Formats: sequence, C-alpha cells, structure tokens
Amino acid sequence: MKISIIGTGYVGLVTGVCLSSIGHNITCIDIDKTKINSLNQGKSPIYEPGLDKLILSCKLSNNLFFTTDFDTAVDTADLVFIAVGTPQSENGSTDLKYIESCIRGIAKAASHDMYVVIKSTVPVGTAQKMQEVFKEALQDEENKDLNIFISSNPEFLKEGSAIEDFMNPDRIVIGTNDDESLKRLKEVYKYFEKKNVPIFYTNVQSAQLIKYAANSFNAAKISFINSLASYCEKTGANIADVADGIGLDKRIGRSFLNAGIGYGGSCFPKDVESLKYEMNNSNSMLSAIIEENEKARFWPIKTLYDIFKNTEYPGEEGSYKFSSDDSLHIAILGLAFKPNTDDIRCSVGVKLAEELSKYYTVTIYDPIATDKAYVALKDCNVKAFYSINEAVAGADIVIFCTEWDEFKKLNKWELNTIAYIMRGNIIIDGRNIFDQKEMSKKFNYYCVGKQHI
Ligand code: UGA
Repeated sequence: MKISIIGTGYVGLVTGVCLSSIGHNITCIDIDKTKINSLNQGKSPIYEPGLDKLILSCKLSNNLFFTTDFDTAVDTADLVFIAVGTPQSENGSTDLKYIESCIRGIAKAASHDMYVVIKSTVPVGTAQKMQEVFKEALQDEENKDLNIFISSNPEFLKEGSAIEDFMNPDRIVIGTNDDESLKRLKEVYKYFEKKNVPIFYTNVQSAQLIKYAANSFNAAKISFINSLASYCEKTGANIADVADGIGLDKRIGRSFLNAGIGYGGSCFPKDVESLKYEMNNSNSMLSAIIEENEKARFWPIKTLYDIFKNTEYPGEEGSYKFSSDDSLHIAILGLAFKPNTDDIRCSVGVKLAEELSKYYTVTIYDPIATDKAYVALKDCNVKAFYSINEAVAGADIVIFCTEWDEFKKLNKWELNTIAYIMRGNIIIDGRNIFDQKEMSKKFNYYCVGKQHI
C-alpha cells in the first residue's frame, strides 16, 4: 500500500520505517530540510536503538522515501498518516495548530477524496473539528468538491523500545467512522493480523479516548505507588517489596509500579493534563495523579532539605530556597527523562540541575543526553562531562535521576572509585537503582520509599 506519513518525530518516523519493513511503500514528509537530508543519508535525527539500521535496510529495499514535497506525497498516497506534535498549551489543553496546518495542506494538495489517519494523540472531537477545517480550507481552492475521511489509529510505542513496541504491540487500535477507511486500515495492518496481534476496532472517538485513558492509567499506577513512598520511609516498609507483592496479583501486574521521582517525557505529563482539561477539570482521579507526580519529582529537594536540616521546609515544588554556597558541589547523573533515549523533555534531572545551580556548583552527566541537556541548561552555571567519574570527582552529593544500565551495572570496584573521588559521601538515588544495604556500607545513601539506614 502507498502510504505517506506527515511528521518524522518519534511516532511518525518509527511508524514509517516499521510499516516499510513489512512491505508498504512509505514516504515520510517533514518541513525540516536538514532532517530530511540526514534521513536521506540513512541517519536518524533521534536516538532510538536499532532505528538507523532499519532505515538503511528499508531504503535499500526501495520501500522508504523522505521528502519535503508535501503536495505530491500527499496526493499520490492511498492513505495519509498524520504524526505531528500536539503540544500542551498554557492552560493544559492540547494545541492542535500542527494538525490543523496538515489538514489545510491536504486540502490544498488533494485532487481526489482523501483518507487520513491521525496517529498523533488528540482529544476526542478532533476528527470532526478537522473535517470542518478541511471544508473551510477548500473554499479557498477553486473547483474543488472533495471529501476527507478521518480515522484514528493511536500509537502506544515507548521511546527507547520503539521498534520492538511497534512490531510486537499488545494491541492495535483502529477507530473509523466509514467503511472505506476501515478497509484501507485493515490492509495496512494485515501483517499483524496474521501474527495474531489483537486488533481492536472501534469508532474514532473511542480510539482517541483509549490513548488518553491508557497513558493516564499507567501514570496512575506510577503515582499510586509513589503516594505510598514517604509512608514506607517512615514506617520501615519497603516500597519495592510492596510493588512486588501487589504486582503478583494478576489483576494488578508489576509493570509501571517502580517508585521514584515521577514520570516525565513528552507524553504522560501532557496527556494527563489534556484529559483533565477536556473533562472540564472535574475528574479528581486525574488531579490526584498530577499532584502525586509533582510530589515525587520534588523528592530529591525534600531529601536535600532533610540532609541540610533546613527549618524552612517548603510546602510545594518551586517554593524552596537554599542558602547559596558555591563550595558545595552536587553532581547530577541521568538527564534523559528515562533510560535508552536522549529525550530530555520534562526531565527531573534537567529541572534539578537548573534549580540547584542557582545555589551550588553543579556538574552533570548522562550516557547519551549530556549534549542536549547542556544546550537546554546554557543559561545556567552547569558543567557538563562525558563520564561518570569526571562528573562526580570532588562532589559532596551525587543525585541519580535516570536508571541507565551504565549506572545499574556499576560494580563494587567502580563504586569504590566513586566513593574515593567524591569529596563527600551522600548519594541520593531517585530511581532505586542500587542495593540499599550494600550502598549504605560505602555511602550515606538515600533512596525512595525505604527507611534511611
Ligand atoms: C508512554 C507510554 O508508555 C507509551 O505507551 C505511549 O505510546 C507514549 O507514552 C506516548 O504517548 O507516546 P514514554 O513516555 O516513551 O511512553 O515512556 P514510559 O516508558 O512510559 O515512561 C514514562 C515515564 O514514567 C518515565 O519518566 C519513566 O521514568 C516513568 N516511570 C515508568 C516510572 O516512574 N515508574 C515506572 O514504573 C515506569
């Protein structure tokens, strides 16, 4: 099938490459010439394990093309996927300006009825709104009396395991309100049907809500476990054991129950806020998820207050104040919002570096995202390094914000080296990476949801 995909971000690019790898003829469209040039040379503009290799092999099979020529690519496709960003507006709502501009572009380029699939995460009702945008845009085009049929096919891949998630999904959700779109989408996903992947068919509105509900539910699991963390710290219960214990109940499951410094990234924070907004801010469950996440993200600061025995304990994130002390050195390790990605959007590590550098000497290191973080922190007094040891040398406090394998795999000798080259001995582990008993032998070690030893 001939498919064009607008937008070469995580979702668009991975969708394009994976659909091409199963035999579809894919053209990925982006307005960013530098991105398209780099993709035409077989280089992915994002870090995602396995993606570069797959791009090259699909290009060799002559199944994958990258272009900035929107009009031709859109008009010659059997199906056009939209996978552009849907950022959050100031008030929590979803900003649909990029989707709208795609629809206007399609109206201009189309010479026949168009079948369009929205892959981006968009609120319920967006398809109807976009039908109207299309009609209105056609008024500027002479002699055009065309229809647009819009479907929803939300994407559930995770950054860092995007290809694996796309190729082996738990389910595929297809939301259509017309028969021809359904027929075309069935054709797109025939390969997965043969592999017995559950394909869930519904209407457009339900498909759109399924995406928000899935992200909010997983965010709720994280916030629920985090809501028990400080109680565990006080009582001597161990949050990891509690998660393991409840996770064995098949109705609950163990995934997304790792306590820590909360969820970040470009999806959970935005999607929970957006659903809350769409429901007129009246859903108290969604409000609680957000509130608990803010508390979790604040945990390293709260821990610093406890360590410094600061009496002016702040009540909420952002209202804290430390006494400036340039001689105190804090190293922050892990700036990506989670492992295996260089994405720093809504990253606790970056936020912490920004805040703490107002008071202290701050050094940073991330296995992949150091450069991106350094650019984001260009106005802050932060020193970036390309190895753990360089970043922690001379530090009084080390804060771990992301559970990268490189950190998890630090062996006894490497940890001894860290203990030796640090000036102080405080470790704040925001992702419960290490064994508490072992770490407490070498360091003054703080972790989430476990009583301090
Ligand atoms: C999330 C969803 O998991 C995907 O299914 C969805 O397609 C995607 O959003 C999207 O809407 O595009 P992603 O944001 O890439 O994927 O990352 P996750 O692995 O879900 O992690 C999200 C955040 O939750 C991270 O900050 C992670 O550190 C945190 N997390 C995750 C926890 O704090 N505890 C856990 O147990 C799991």
